Amino acid sequence: MFDLDGKVALVTGSAQGIGKAIALNLAQGGARIVLTDMREAKLDEAVKEIEAQGGKAIRFVVDVTDREAVKKVFDQVLETWEKIDILVNNAGITRDSLVMRMKVEDWQAVLKTNLDGAFYCIQAVLPGMVRQRYGRIVSIASVVAQAGNVGQANYISSKAGIIGLTKGVAAEVARHDRESAPGDQGEDAEHDPHRAHGNRRGDCHGSAFPGVGGSPLHHRACAQRQRRDVYGVRKLVRGRLSLLELPPAGNRKRRERWHRPKRRLSRSLLNS
Ligand SMILES: NC(=O)c1ccc[n+]([C@@H]2O[C@H](COP(=O)([O-])OP(=O)(O)OC[C@H]3O[C@@H](n4cnc5c(N)ncnc54)[C@H](O)[C@@H]3O)[C@@H](O)[C@H]2O)c1
Repeated sequence: MFDLDGKVALVTGSAQGIGKAIALNLAQGGARIVLTDMREAKLDEAVKEIEAQGGKAIRFVVDVTDREAVKKVFDQVLETWEKIDILVNNAGITRDSLVMRMKVEDWQAVLKTNLDGAFYCIQAVLPGMVRQRYGRIVSIASVVAQAGNVGQANYISSKAGIIGLTKGVAAEVARHDRESAPGDQGEDAEHDPHRAHGNRRGDCHGSAFPGVGGSPLHHRACAQRQRRDVYGVRKLVRGRLSLLELPPAGNRKRRERWHRPKRRLSRSLLNS
């Protein structure tokens, strides 16, 4: 069991199913829980269950597809508990049908709930997380986003979107987190410019804010690290797209030129 004492966790779609189980588990770890869903009676049951096991919980009836309502709920949580440390984007629906018969409303409803809803919640929670330099966002995807499945093109697209959204948000804001800036694990403190400067990694913004918290050398190393992290994301994306990429027809020189940037990229990753 993890220690979440003092943390505040908001779980969407937590009146039942996986969301409720996540909320109960986080409460057992010591977090105060914000339950959100559209099902009021079930939300009340969930609150009672958390309180019965000695935890603290509040609940809000909100539809994640309503951006204004989402923003209002997040503001109310901040008024009540002053912060949100953990967001779990769990609310999700399915409207299965073969693509050829799929109604536009079913396509839109699934994308709106599963992807737009997560985006609205992330947008509402991020400013506070960046300010406090701590935050954890977990969004529930699905294996079908990678594997595909018959009759679920709308659901698959929404969950693949969730994976992309997560990568995009991580590339933008992970460096603000005091404890988990990208590239943080398993590195030698001796070669870590942040520690060498007696600075915590999250305090440095690299080339984005030159002159803040370290020497030019420190900032150059930090900017290099950030570029590397972006390459890391690009590498993943390229990996997924590589099946669609074909070398150009023509002579050997042209084919070699086509391959060159990739080799350079992988060499820079190996050296980093
Ligand atoms: N059950 C599975 O096997 C499975 C597998 C992979 C991923 N998932 C994902 O896990 C998550 C939870 O799945 P589950 O099986 O517990 O589903 P569930 O239907 O039991 O629970 C989903 C909850 O989300 C709520 N919800 C739906 N639309 C909402 C909206 N617009 N605003 C607020 N709340 C809303 C529902 O009221 C419900 O309480 C979903 O994102 C789902 O796609 C589930």
